[in-house]
Amino acid sequence: MMFLKTAEEIELMRKGADILTQVHKEVVTHVKPGITTAELDKIAETVIRDHNAIPSFKGYNGYPATLCTSVNEQVIHGIPSHYYLKDGDILSIDCGVYYQKHHTDAANTVPIGNISKELLNLLSQTKEALYLAIEKATTQHTIEDLGHTIEQHIKKHNYHVIKEYGGHGIGKHLHEEPHIPNYPTTQHQEKIKNGMVLAIEPIVSLGQPDIYEGSDGWTVQTKDLSPTAHYEHTIAIINNQPEILTKHL
Ligand code: MF3
Ligand code: CO
Repeated sequence: MMFLKTAEEIELMRKGADILTQVHKEVVTHVKPGITTAELDKIAETVIRDHNAIPSFKGYNGYPATLCTSVNEQVIHGIPSHYYLKDGDILSIDCGVYYQKHHTDAANTVPIGNISKELLNLLSQTKEALYLAIEKATTQHTIEDLGHTIEQHIKKHNYHVIKEYGGHGIGKHLHEEPHIPNYPTTQHQEKIKNGMVLAIEPIVSLGQPDIYEGSDGWTVQTKDLSPTAHYEHTIAIINNQPEILTKHL
């Protein structure tokens, strides 16, 4: 089902998004070589609960943690663990907050210590693809236009979008319609409407886009071990224009 949100609902989601922004800002200050992803998860959960909110992911289809922490060739849904982050890694941090009966969702990919120029470019161009798509999130455009914008930008840099996962509507449920593929498809020619709240999330591989799900039942990884980047904002369409609710990037 697709649900258009009222001004009151969007106001609640702004507040939830502010909490989520604080989570990301706090987690990033602790990201450095030698910290474990489980420690980052604990920090995130504490910030969320201190604001009388609930981690959206914990318990979602049995997912065991507050964050998804996906390192290097891990694409998404990496489970926080006793892995010690090391210099040269890249880490995708994905988090959802449930506040006043509404979810918001946001991701960031950050360097650990010094990373190669090649990786820096992967991160900056994936983030750029997200912002280019957000600019297109107006009532003049369709859901397909978002995916078209993302894939076109990513192809220009000889990277590949991961097609198995994409963005989504969000609100009372973490995942609502419409699904937002990160590539153009004629199945998504629906017009963007005022009151839509969308989580837009390009997921990009530096190399080949082929993936598999790891033995823990969650962690998605690239087959060729290419590093991947993932950025996500929750946005609302108001007065025909996008408003970015999450402010972590
Ligand atoms: N952040 C993911 C998304 O954007 C959802 C994580 S799945 C979960 O759709 F199980 F970890 F919650
Ligand atoms: Co999402």
